[in-house]
Amino acid sequence: MANYKHFQLETDAQNIAWLSIDKADASTNALSRELVEELESILDELESERPKGLVIRSAKPSGFVAGADIKEFTAIENEAQARELIRRGQGVINRIERLRFTTVALIHGFCLGGGLELALGCDYRIAEDGPKTRLGLPEVKLGIHPGFGGAARLPQLIGAPAAMDMMLTGRSVSASAAKRLGLLDFAVPDRHLETAARSVVQKPPHKKPLAWWKKLSNHPLVRPLLAKYLTKQVAAKAPRKHYPAPYALIDLWAKHGGNKKAMLQGEEHSVARLVLGDTAQNLIRVFFLQERLKSLGASRSVSSSERNASAGTFDIQRVHVIGGGVMGGDIAAWCALRGLQVTVQDRQEATLARVIQRAAKLYKKKLKKPRLVQEALDRLMPDIHGLGVARADVVIEAIFEDVEAKQNLYQEIEPQMKPGALLATNTSSIPLEVLSTCLAEPSRLVGVHFFNPVAMMQLVEIVNAPNTDPAVVDEAAMFTRRIDRLPLPVTSTPGFLVNRILMPYLLEAVVLESEGVSPKVIDQAALDFGMPMGPITLADTVGLDICLAVAETLARSMDVEVPARLRSLVESGRVGKKSGEGFYRYPATKKGKPEMSKPGRGDYRPADIQDRMILRMLNEAVACLREGVVADSDLLDVGIIFGTGFAPFRGGPMHYIETTGADVLLEKMRTMHKKYGERFAPDESWQQLG
Ligand code: COA
Repeated sequence: MANYKHFQLETDAQNIAWLSIDKADASTNALSRELVEELESILDELESERPKGLVIRSAKPSGFVAGADIKEFTAIENEAQARELIRRGQGVINRIERLRFTTVALIHGFCLGGGLELALGCDYRIAEDGPKTRLGLPEVKLGIHPGFGGAARLPQLIGAPAAMDMMLTGRSVSASAAKRLGLLDFAVPDRHLETAARSVVQKPPHKKPLAWWKKLSNHPLVRPLLAKYLTKQVAAKAPRKHYPAPYALIDLWAKHGGNKKAMLQGEEHSVARLVLGDTAQNLIRVFFLQERLKSLGASRSVSSSERNASAGTFDIQRVHVIGGGVMGGDIAAWCALRGLQVTVQDRQEATLARVIQRAAKLYKKKLKKPRLVQEALDRLMPDIHGLGVARADVVIEAIFEDVEAKQNLYQEIEPQMKPGALLATNTSSIPLEVLSTCLAEPSRLVGVHFFNPVAMMQLVEIVNAPNTDPAVVDEAAMFTRRIDRLPLPVTSTPGFLVNRILMPYLLEAVVLESEGVSPKVIDQAALDFGMPMGPITLADTVGLDICLAVAETLARSMDVEVPARLRSLVESGRVGKKSGEGFYRYPATKKGKPEMSKPGRGDYRPADIQDRMILRMLNEAVACLREGVVADSDLLDVGIIFGTGFAPFRGGPMHYIETTGADVLLEKMRTMHKKYGERFAPDESWQQLG
């Protein structure tokens, strides 16, 4: 067995070389420069030794390879450096492809980006047919596209429609889906992986040719037509000026698809240009900020109390949720989906029945296989008498927003709870220090503020009051990670972080509407900035009654004006999508879509419409940072991106202020302050940002 830093290479009795990728000092394999260089020398050795075959696998339990090393992307200074890095990655995969013996990629867990491109360089791909296996080319999510030969090889292997779909959306596929697509040759259970690889090397099976119609999709006469269609599809989701990568990929394939050499060169040029652009650099930054949120849930600080006996671990098996409304029910369903044993308590049987119905719908969508759906449903138990409280590791209260009702409940359940179990509330408006006064141990109460819809919104605000035990905050963050959500610690102040920053922006949109600007023009202005959904559509979707309640909560403690228009709509019963009408109408025939035409030239569109909405948001962000609602500007940025969808390619509100110039924005704020009044009064900390 040869000695390498990032690999283990063994040749067995049948002369098959087994190369295990094992990036040093890392939990995950990523194709760093050093690793690629080492792989080059391993190939030198293999080329001279000529084994019967080569099986490439990963020694990491988490998966195969997560892609090119994203950490190295941030150190690239110019296009020449980027091109050299890409050429190196392409070169090593080309060499694997040219080896004169059979090569097999043996995959478990994730096989993403450069990892999949490496596997595409092998003759055969075999993967574990298990729930953890995911294959994909997620580069567009980082503002680039595949550059290690993925764009050149994948359309040839599985046909352009499926390949372009994977590369343009960045979505990953399971082993069984990959097998159906032709991306994998075999999907087998874990225990058969080695045998499968061995028999493929011993007797390389015949490869099924690509179906004629898939082959046709790469034909020079078909490519322009398909490219036009794909461009239209992409344009409906991501404008070219904000997200250039998918367009660059379509252009590249339309021009050179089928010509491998030209495609590889094109990948090199295109990715080198993209990676240095603002969009990619901001999206890469967001990736690392997301990693930071993940790490917040990975460990716990030293406990001030002796809460859990085994320091450093907080074993979460059982969750008890009280309150079967939309939030409580969906939180319970999500926890069971992520493998926890869940009891959900409500006074009404009918409410619990609805929770289970909604959960079944979610599980069918996410898990597909009836057996897995049934297993998830078995983990979710309706519990009208609250028997689950005593056994739960985490108890989440999600009842209506009433101090007395919540306190009565806490007094009832606290003595029943296991020592060291987490007591969490999903309140969105009541300070924790008010709620916790009734507890024997007030420091144990923590907020876990989920967003609606729970299954889509990754962020969870971990709310802490001055008297909350820091160890409890850590445990709440760990619980959040256990259910695959992102924890963001925030202080127990009105609106916490996300609603507080989102609300002024939504309210300004309502003011604009009451001034006579049409909802579609307002929404379009926000979309042009890069928001994923316009504020008027968002308000209608969340529910105008909910928006009003949040706005009124904020108005009680802060200088927030609640527009009369919002009140009058709610009073008239027009509360948004759920009532069939809010700012827009939602006819039953349009299945939840609003009745709306595209904004036209004749529509009234004030010149400062975008600034009015965005600056109110930025002003609140600056105030939150000054008040310490969140620990620092990076956490604020990532929280607002994941909590509100704030244009990710702009890197978050604080990053946007930094790149645009605080002085420029402050000047605009001052102008608006004069023109529109106190709601535009610049926060005192703008001066220090300049
Ligand atoms: N380059 C460098 N480091 C990477 C990486 C990559 N492509 N992908 C993951 N990592 C690192 C993470 O930074 C983290 O490092 P840490 O242990 O020092 O904190 C570690 O691998 C584990 O990743 P994490 O995200 O915490 O684990 P997870 O199980 O939640 O998710 C992935 C794993 C692979 C699904 C996720 O990390 C991911 O999506 N990575 C990016 C994939 C990608 O975009 N590849 C294309 C690159 S061009």
